[in-house]
Amino acid sequence: MEIKKPWQGRFEKPTLGEVERYTESLSFDWRLYRYDIAGSVAHCRMLAECGIISYDEASQIITALGEIYREIERGEFVFDPSFEDIHMAIEQRLIQKIGDVGGKLHTARSRNDQIALDIRLYLRDVIISVRGELLNVIEALIKLATRYFHVVMPGYTHLQHAQPVALAHHFMAYCEMFRRDEERFADSLKRVNVLPLGSAALAGTSFPIDMTLTAKYLNFDAVTRNSMDAVSDRDHLLEFLSAAAITMMHISRLAEELVLWSSSEFGFIELSDAFCTGSSIMPQKKNPDVAELMRGKTGRVYGNLIALLTTMKALPLSYNRDLQEDKIPLFDTSDTLLSTLKLLAMMLPEITVREEKMEQAAREGWILATELADYLVTQGVPFRKAHHVVGQIVRFCIEEGKDFKDCTLEELRKFHKAFDERVFEVLDVRTAVERRKSHGGTSWTRVKETIEDAERYVKATRENLQIIKDRYGRQGHLPLH
Ligand code: ARG
Repeated sequence: MEIKKPWQGRFEKPTLGEVERYTESLSFDWRLYRYDIAGSVAHCRMLAECGIISYDEASQIITALGEIYREIERGEFVFDPSFEDIHMAIEQRLIQKIGDVGGKLHTARSRNDQIALDIRLYLRDVIISVRGELLNVIEALIKLATRYFHVVMPGYTHLQHAQPVALAHHFMAYCEMFRRDEERFADSLKRVNVLPLGSAALAGTSFPIDMTLTAKYLNFDAVTRNSMDAVSDRDHLLEFLSAAAITMMHISRLAEELVLWSSSEFGFIELSDAFCTGSSIMPQKKNPDVAELMRGKTGRVYGNLIALLTTMKALPLSYNRDLQEDKIPLFDTSDTLLSTLKLLAMMLPEITVREEKMEQAAREGWILATELADYLVTQGVPFRKAHHVVGQIVRFCIEEGKDFKDCTLEELRKFHKAFDERVFEVLDVRTAVERRKSHGGTSWTRVKETIEDAERYVKATRENLQIIKDRYGRQGHLPLH
């Protein structure tokens, strides 16, 4: 009989089929194969360097692991769920290929530190990709801000017209959110990039291993300090899931605005046909589905964070099988986040802004009320008094059915003597925008500065990311070719 389970020695009866199906993780952790193999190659080199196995044995193992890697890449590898997980599937294939020597690979390690390693390697790759995609989104926003630099729109608070702002300022506000996200992912890398392999089951190992060597082969910056923590720590996953949840929240806000702005009520933008779908019943419909789903998928990404936080809650030290449940939320969030960011970076450049419609909305209503109040202030009127006076003018205009601009100077002077003919100069949305020169304000001078700053940031971060990619990139930990 073929021995499938490495732990079969202790057992009298075979595992129940239902139990196998319930406990297996191969159906989802198979995708860690490249990281699992990379980790095994590094571990094997270290074992040889430390004299725990011979160089000849190490070379046989590494060659066979390379073959297995290529079998999987070519789709020739049979993922039999009775192997339980990716670690056992690969190890069994190794033993099948080279016999007993293959059985030496698992010296001085356990699946507990092995899976801890695999998810760190996986996460390192994903974080690098996420950062790259975030930079693409940021770049798309910068381009929109540049393309529509001179467009004025109504700025909102409470979704009510507040003050006119530059559309570029609005786009650059999202740029700020995504910059913070990118920084969060970049920062989290230093906690991901720590090697746990060698912690073994929980207590470390009696073999004279050198974890710093394995760390060097895999380009890790540090090794874990406590083996019990190392096999049961999933903080870096939680950090990733929460940074992803925050990023999705930002995306959902932008997506919501795209949905609103493309409605007939707003009519501010037109989304490209390529990112919309029609209705099976209403011929006129052009629905902003992509934006809606970006908003919708945010819920699932939040759920993944809560799922893992809950799995981790009150878990005693050290490894517990519960931890196997970490991968489903991890994979789902990384897949969702990456595909969302990719599509967002593709969708943003395809937006057409209806400039006239937006500017028209910016001129409507009482959006210049603050200008009027500020004007009185420059004439020496205390702001609170000015606020009250302008409030009365708004009420007067509503009753008379007219705009500030339709008021005569005499009418305005009835409310306050400080008004003179220069007041009409400030009653202009462009002037209102340009006057807001305070730090971070909407004036075109300021917005131009933030665009330039963002461009410098994208350039510097791309360079930095390239260095990281060269260092940690896939080839870096797959010395197989
Ligand atoms: N499939 C397991 C996981 O994902 C690997 C570690 C299993 N360890 C064990 N002792 N059963 O967590």
